[in-house]
Amino acid sequence: MKILMCRPDYYGIEYEINPWMKLEHKVNHADALKQWNELHKTILFCGAQIELVPAAPGWPDMVFTANAGLIYKNQIILSRFKYPERQGELPHYQTWFTQAGYDIANPTTNVHNQPFFEGAGDALLAGDILFAGYGFRTDKKFYQQAAYLDQHKLIYCELTDPYFYHLDTCFCPLNAELAIWYPAAFNQEAQKRMSQQIKLIAVSEEEAKRFACNAVVLDQHVILPTNCPNITTLLQNNGFQVHACEMNEYLKAGGACKCLTLRLD
Ligand code: ARG
Repeated sequence: MKILMCRPDYYGIEYEINPWMKLEHKVNHADALKQWNELHKTILFCGAQIELVPAAPGWPDMVFTANAGLIYKNQIILSRFKYPERQGELPHYQTWFTQAGYDIANPTTNVHNQPFFEGAGDALLAGDILFAGYGFRTDKKFYQQAAYLDQHKLIYCELTDPYFYHLDTCFCPLNAELAIWYPAAFNQEAQKRMSQQIKLIAVSEEEAKRFACNAVVLDQHVILPTNCPNITTLLQNNGFQVHACEMNEYLKAGGACKCLTLRLD
């Protein structure tokens, strides 16, 4: 189990690109670092290794490595960020993946006029099924055009609530058979399609808004934000060991535990 993270050296709220972000909600940098360190420590405790991509000045959301891309069949599918506020992260990620020896499925030649894709923020694997989130940051067309994706194993998940703008804010596979989700974030059709594919445990609105679904799953360990008691009990009843990390500095940007990580294997 290998995870990519990026230190919050340049993290901050410098623009508003989702409904959680408010310029007046300034980040407390000391707390942000403390929370990131705690998450880092918890991930190591759960038995995973961590790689670090160097933070780049001027890209305050680069800390959210989930959006760098998606590891799929030993390749990295790089993101095509929707907002210019994040597009400059891409060359930094591409450099890191290249130097680390990854095969890049979609090198950044001609990124213009291509459909948007925000990586493991929107595309989540459960076994070999890819839950393909779209609607806010990722275009459905991206998946349809991607020759390297197994089209038979895609489950399209249309997101409809702007507060849950990435799939990983409202859905989290625990293994190939079981996932947690916040159903109200999806349209009826997606809800039906998803329920036919995997067993789902619903998270309450209250806990979903505390990013309960934004969990890091490492075998039987689940790391999620603090103050999510109901889903914690449900996960424990299903045999998972739950770890809570304070994430309030990252909730200000519309992110939490899972957004701060990218699974590399
Ligand atoms: N402020 C970031 C954005 O709006 C947060 C990204 C959260 N990442 C995620 N995978 N949900 O792009």
